[in-house]
Amino acid sequence: MPAKFITLEGIEGSGKSTLLQKMADWLAGRGHSVLLTCEPGGSALGRELRPLLLDADREKVCMEAELFLYLADRAEHARRVIIPALERGELVLCDRFTDSTLAYQGYGRGLDLDLLRRLNHAATGGLAPDQTLVLDLPPEMGLSRARRRNLEQGLERKEGRFEAESLAFHSRVRTGYLSIAEEESGRVKVLDASGGPEELFSQACKHFPREMEL
Ligand code: TYD
Repeated sequence: MPAKFITLEGIEGSGKSTLLQKMADWLAGRGHSVLLTCEPGGSALGRELRPLLLDADREKVCMEAELFLYLADRAEHARRVIIPALERGELVLCDRFTDSTLAYQGYGRGLDLDLLRRLNHAATGGLAPDQTLVLDLPPEMGLSRARRRNLEQGLERKEGRFEAESLAFHSRVRTGYLSIAEEESGRVKVLDASGGPEELFSQACKHFPREMEL
């Protein structure tokens, strides 16, 4: 069965957005109807929650409140956006999903992983990706790329809450992703994201031979 629901994961600056756009164009060019979406912010509610979660100028909320905002975003996104698209026969490409909560709130912030798995399940109603690509690179490299991108785009770094976290935090997040990939090696594949976008795209394509058939 070709993968229908594909998620991309990774630390800041791993190149998820560029890869997702390339994958969406490539799959659409092969006749698939593709929905490209993201968390947080993939639903109408999510677009309201996103600044609450990421705006670096806002006062930080406690990590439990942060967790429930991500889960509210996911519940709405899964039920109102992703599941209907899958039911219409579309291929869904999503920038971050349940593994982000395990990696950031679990491995990064230290919240209990089993609790997070149960809460993820409650939020999604059991919806899980068919295939997940983790874009892996050293956090030093990811953070410097993310900073450069912000400068190049002349951004006022409004969405910098996680980029402002320490290197140690991002190292824990990276370790989290690699542990998830080891535990669920069928679903989760790790790509080396330290090279350029073309190289990353060709690594990603190797995981979708069935999707190329259409
Ligand atoms: P994103 O928009 O993908 O930003 P970036 O392009 O910098 O990766 O994600 C925003 C942030 O939200 C990212 O730092 C990770 C964080 N996040 C969590 O902490 N938990 C979650 O469940 C999700 C979905 C995201």
